Amino acid sequence: METIALQSDNQKQTTIDFLPLQGTDYVEFYVGNAKQAAHYYKTAFGFQSLAYAGPETGVKDKASYVIRQNKLTFVLTTPVRANNEIADHIYKHGDGVKVIALKVDDAKSAWEETTQRGAKSYMDPVTFTDESGEIVMSGIHIYGETVHVFIERKNYNGVFMPGYREWKSDYNPCDSGLLYVDHCVGNVGWNQMNPWVKFYEDVMGFKNILTFDDKDISTEYSALMSKVMSNGNGFVKFPINEPAEGKKKSQVEEYLDFYDGEGVQHVAIATNNIIETVSELQKRGVEFLKIPASYYADVLDRVGHIDEDLKPLSELGILIDRDDEGYLLQIFSKPVQDRPTLFFEIIQRKGAKSFGKGNFKALFEAIEREQAERGNL
Ligand code: FE2
Repeated sequence: METIALQSDNQKQTTIDFLPLQGTDYVEFYVGNAKQAAHYYKTAFGFQSLAYAGPETGVKDKASYVIRQNKLTFVLTTPVRANNEIADHIYKHGDGVKVIALKVDDAKSAWEETTQRGAKSYMDPVTFTDESGEIVMSGIHIYGETVHVFIERKNYNGVFMPGYREWKSDYNPCDSGLLYVDHCVGNVGWNQMNPWVKFYEDVMGFKNILTFDDKDISTEYSALMSKVMSNGNGFVKFPINEPAEGKKKSQVEEYLDFYDGEGVQHVAIATNNIIETVSELQKRGVEFLKIPASYYADVLDRVGHIDEDLKPLSELGILIDRDDEGYLLQIFSKPVQDRPTLFFEIIQRKGAKSFGKGNFKALFEAIEREQAERGNL
């Protein structure tokens, strides 16, 4: 009986959700050197080669390397000539996230539903075909020069999508246990958080599931505000940050300065064993923010019992937080390019559905130490 009730609830859900999302399909980065970036993500993060498109496959103006680890797919794209949209994007923003691609059952409907609610079109629905089937894609603009692309791949069984060929490599470093995108955070300008919250509500049918004001997220020096937006089934979550007034410059403001506009601040990636994953990543040269030993002196008083030993967590600098439903373990990388812009979070959820509010102070003090070293605090 319970199963039947659940099914009808699900059916109800799909009838009211005008933009059903199956999750993140891929994240595409525009980078200065995609060949080297692909090597970095394979070597340091444990991705595998999947597909390639470029001059050799008939694409004249860019090269794209597709790499994958479990359900996590990154596309690294670079222009091979000057004077085009990708080259301009990199000149202005440096390396960064261009596309958060969302998997849908119907890319035409996703585009119609969102554009008719006010989204600006980035790509009208197009069908791409090859011998492995067809893919339908469409896209809309979000904050800054970032976009969402809707991907419908139910009639496709090729490696990635038409236009790409399989990329087989003899260099296959082992994986690091990264599983899928947990959430993707956007930094927007002063007073822009609420307009973007409204965009995700009105245009994409998302709900605001958590709010952090500047009192939650402030240190002695700097502050920010954040609201977490989630789609109906919770597969896709987008926290949106804006800077807040503090004694010194907000980390969001530093991002906006160096990215020269709004954009993706961090991509959080899930793992089932954060101790193993982070040990592996550190061994391979991924740099993480350092947390003072004092954090671990009383962390268990705050979060209560956890299954893991505290020693490896403190050695690696992994943070712990608890909410009503469980706890989570998380760690933040340093920026992965010379501009203090994009970084990664590694997260292991043990019941908790929140974002580590209890860690904000320790975390932001760590970020500020780095900011100060760059002369930007
Ligand atoms: Fe996060």
